Amino acid sequence: MGDGPTDTRHHRKPGRVPPHPGDASITLQPSDRADEIGVLERELAEMQREIRHSLVQNTRLAALGASMSRVNHDLRNSLASAMVVSDSLAQSEDPQVQKVTPRLMAAIDRAVNLCSQTLDYARSREPELHPERFDLRTLVSDVLDFVTPPPDAEIRWDIGIDPGFVVVADKNQMFRVLLNLAGNAAAAMPEGGTLRFRAERGGGWVSIDIADEGTGIPPKAQETLFEPFMPGSGKGTGLGLAIAKELMRAHGGDIKLMETSDRGTRFRLRLPDRG
Ligand SMILES: Nc1ncnc2c1ncn2[C@@H]1O[C@H](COP(=O)(O)OP(=O)(O)OP(=O)(O)O)[C@@H](O)[C@H]1O
Ligand SMILES: [Mg+2]
Repeated sequence: MGDGPTDTRHHRKPGRVPPHPGDASITLQPSDRADEIGVLERELAEMQREIRHSLVQNTRLAALGASMSRVNHDLRNSLASAMVVSDSLAQSEDPQVQKVTPRLMAAIDRAVNLCSQTLDYARSREPELHPERFDLRTLVSDVLDFVTPPPDAEIRWDIGIDPGFVVVADKNQMFRVLLNLAGNAAAAMPEGGTLRFRAERGGGWVSIDIADEGTGIPPKAQETLFEPFMPGSGKGTGLGLAIAKELMRAHGGDIKLMETSDRGTRFRLRLPDRG
């Protein structure tokens, strides 16, 4: 005895138990020092607060992941039965049925996709992208078919995107991003209003602007807008913008809040231009 790591104990001040490296239960207390060490202490304490915050988020995501796995299992079974019914509907000779069945099947497909993607998110897995070339205007008008405006609100869609404006990205994922933005925008216009889409390319990027005439986002909510589980006063779960951000990032792009006031809100999506 005498040699080795135990020796170091003799160098400690009596009564002071040194923190185990990595012991997250100890809270760093910065002193009032005005020098660089003081600055460093405060920065470390701030970093510790941020790490704690993201640990709490991760724990919540893990809990969500576990319960979603169960919901997902049952939901997938229901969707499988819906798929069988819509397959047999597709055989019908009734022209009305023939007209609506493809939309029904597309909706079921998207629901299945949504299940898996939300699960992926809860498990914090990187979304898998399947890029393809598609017409952005067509995608936006498909998205608008799925938006439910608030009751009694007359919402006008203004798609100022030229036909033939081609984008290369994962179409299903872009559908999800746009659907969430359009859904949020419609929800923010209980008195009605216009939802405008614009797109342009330049400098190697495609920018897509989504602007509404809604109630705007309060300053406090803006701070955590893209964090998961930060819903407003509505019925949402607060996942939409977090997922949208993750999907845009996975594409090498981004989503930004450009402006918001009581006259409306504008978000901008950016994608690397691969058209
Ligand atoms: N265009 C907008 N105008 C006003 N508020 C908005 C707008 N977009 C988002 N918000 C606010 O930000 C909150 C978070 O949006 P997000 O899409 O992340 O979650 P959610 O819509 O509440 O739920 P989910 O999308 O998971 O169903 C919304 O609840 C809403 O309060
Ligand atoms: Mg939403």
